[in-house]
Amino acid sequence: MKLFNTKILGTGSYLPDRIVTNDDLSKRIDTSHQWIVERTGIHQRRVADLSKGESPSGMAKEAALKAIEAANLTVNDIDMILLSATMPDQAMPNTAAVLQEKLGITNNCPTLDVNAACSGWIYLVPMADAMIKTGLYKNILVIGSEMLSSFNNWDDRNTCILFGDACGAAVLGRAGEKEDSRIYSSVLTCDSTKKDHLTLMAGGACKRTTHEILNNNEQWMTMNGQQIFKAAVTTMAAHAEKVAKEAELAMEDIDWFIPHQANLRIIEAVGTRFNIPHEKVIINVDKYANTSSASVPVALDEAIRSGKIKRGDNLLMAAFGAGLTAGAICLKY
Ligand code: COA
Repeated sequence: MKLFNTKILGTGSYLPDRIVTNDDLSKRIDTSHQWIVERTGIHQRRVADLSKGESPSGMAKEAALKAIEAANLTVNDIDMILLSATMPDQAMPNTAAVLQEKLGITNNCPTLDVNAACSGWIYLVPMADAMIKTGLYKNILVIGSEMLSSFNNWDDRNTCILFGDACGAAVLGRAGEKEDSRIYSSVLTCDSTKKDHLTLMAGGACKRTTHEILNNNEQWMTMNGQQIFKAAVTTMAAHAEKVAKEAELAMEDIDWFIPHQANLRIIEAVGTRFNIPHEKVIINVDKYANTSSASVPVALDEAIRSGKIKRGDNLLMAAFGAGLTAGAICLKY
């Protein structure tokens, strides 16, 4: 069977207009700009406005159009949509189906939502790669679109300072015969023994949103920050090392490391563990905070558009999230 190599054909991203600074938050909760910057590296975050169409599918439309344009394709060249959203537009239809309509795609391509929390986009890339490699699909839109503000308790200083809204998109397709682009290696895991460290239990089938839930303030996410912090550092570092090794690349062969943007201290600790120089790490957590599965594709898109990442560069990407899900990918862009 003929196998194809997978190439990132184009990327795009969307950030809501509204900026919420640390000082804005300190007017509502007992916190300060200094505390947030020292513990997380975050200066501000973006917050979506539904009245401006900034839903998960609405943000995805804007990011996807940029990615499709960058790929030199038209919307009907997309033959599958894979979309990661921790909180979708609604339970059904899936957000990817809503996006298909918003993009004006008329080819009836399959649409699928995935929830692996912050690892969602990283989970989808190897899946898209497998389908492109075997020729099952040709151009797959892979999206992470996240509206964390919809389940972020703005009165809980333990969580609300950390998160923001955004969307990142990439079109994955076949590399040409003479091109080097390819996905070298990937790893995906989930350690469910740590699943209780980051949860949103209400709103699903087991715990419907009732008046009692709302009265008890149970409609928000809860988090054990320190446990997540430790697991994030060890898992991301181990996964990054594993995919680099499988790709037969030494650390000096990696041009750019694009980690999940959860906390600057986590990013720095991971970088130190597997010895990647600071100048090779893409960071935007200061501007956007943790945008869950949008974080890696947004950082990727910005680094490509700013000219940092160039064709032929070796990229290493890693993420972790509720579950605890985690994953890493090594590829030639
Ligand atoms: N402002 C001011 N003080 C705060 C605060 C805030 N926003 N949040 C917590 N504090 C206080 C705590 O109440 C605690 O006070 P105490 O010592 O009087 O009890 C103190 O600051 C230290 O809290 P601690 O939880 O030990 O801080 P930390 O250094 O672990 O930082 C996080 C907290 C949440 C920033 C950090 O644990 C973290 O980033 N974890 C990972 C979270 C994550 O990435 N989640 C997403 C996964 S995809």
